[in-house]
Amino acid sequence: MTELAGKRILLGLTGGIAAYKAGELARLFVRSGADVQVVMTRAACGFVTPATMQALSGKPVYTDMWDGRIPNNMGHIELSRDRDLIVVAPASADFMAKLANGLADDLLSALCLARRSPLAVAPAMNVEMWNHPATQRNAAQLRADGVAILGPASGDQACGETGMGRMLEAAEIYAEAVRALSPKVLEGKRVLVTAGPTYEPIDTVRGITNQSSGKMGYAVAQAAAEAGAQVTLVSGRTALPTPAAVERVDVVTAREMHDAVMARVKRTDVFIAVAAVADYHVVNARGQKIKRSAGNPKIELAPNPDILGAVAAGKSAPFCVGFAAETENLKAYAQDKRHQKGIPLLAANLAQEAFGRDDNALTLFDDAGEHVLARAPKIVLARQLVAHIARMLPKAR
Ligand code: C5P
Repeated sequence: MTELAGKRILLGLTGGIAAYKAGELARLFVRSGADVQVVMTRAACGFVTPATMQALSGKPVYTDMWDGRIPNNMGHIELSRDRDLIVVAPASADFMAKLANGLADDLLSALCLARRSPLAVAPAMNVEMWNHPATQRNAAQLRADGVAILGPASGDQACGETGMGRMLEAAEIYAEAVRALSPKVLEGKRVLVTAGPTYEPIDTVRGITNQSSGKMGYAVAQAAAEAGAQVTLVSGRTALPTPAAVERVDVVTAREMHDAVMARVKRTDVFIAVAAVADYHVVNARGQKIKRSAGNPKIELAPNPDILGAVAAGKSAPFCVGFAAETENLKAYAQDKRHQKGIPLLAANLAQEAFGRDDNALTLFDDAGEHVLARAPKIVLARQLVAHIARMLPKAR
């Protein structure tokens, strides 16, 4: 993974037991190619040592305003100037209070005040401390000042109590950092994505569905959100977590998916249909489990609405992107399908090479011809697709 290659991140730690998760976060940043400079408050050093963070980040750690390693003794300027992003994780209640009031009495708070880069903080504290009006006031002030507040989550706490205040997991903070650092090529756009399989009931326990895992559609939703779009994901049944900053609407059948999409299409700039929609539904679905003893059941089918076709044919349709999973003759079928649906862009893949996997290979078809996106993790392909859509948008609108 090199999605943060060349990015320069300052990771700040303040005093809290969640500081142990900052080690994992530093590893994730480093593994994805970022340059990570760790700065710790004195209280943070009571939970993990600078030596631990140095080993994991690969660089000496700073803890003190008056560190002799900084030639001009202005650590708060030196350390903050070349950074693309500052992430403070964990951020204690005390640190949030200092930030909200512009206090600068140690290295980390001073460099946050002196920074030019975006700042994200991941609060970690006891549930009562988080709920306290003073902390809520400080959080609101920080948001108003443009600081991103990541979490906190709710759950068991190290102190034995339960509630809001748990720091997000390292992987969640990492995903937020990737989002913060992504080029905002879809800023201000409203993107609607369908994903996953649909399920058409035969009776109350059986149904017709397909092998779609939803991974590609979820990756597309994540990539669009990273690119600054306001994303709604209409999802069939999957076992996947909702990507950060994405609104998710769960549906089961193709007709539910159709209705959920149609209700939102007027407020959509880009529609990306990734879902593997069942072509038919069962007309005579039973309200009880069908008994074997009743003999061979007769299953009567009727076609489902073509969601993408309906959106593309609508008045002032959004920019529409289709997906095609074929098992053979990819190129011929794909261009045919694009013309038949009347859409500017179609992404095609071979079903047997895509379904359920974490990687894929895609070919994009548009008026300019075909564009091969080499086999890569689905999130990487999704980002390339989003970049391609963004390049096409001004021409299409
Ligand atoms: O015609 P086909 O099902 O192969 O087209 C695939 C594309 O159309 C995908 O983008 C899929 O999400 C969309 N589609 C749809 N509604 C359907 C069938 C397919 O939106 N009923």
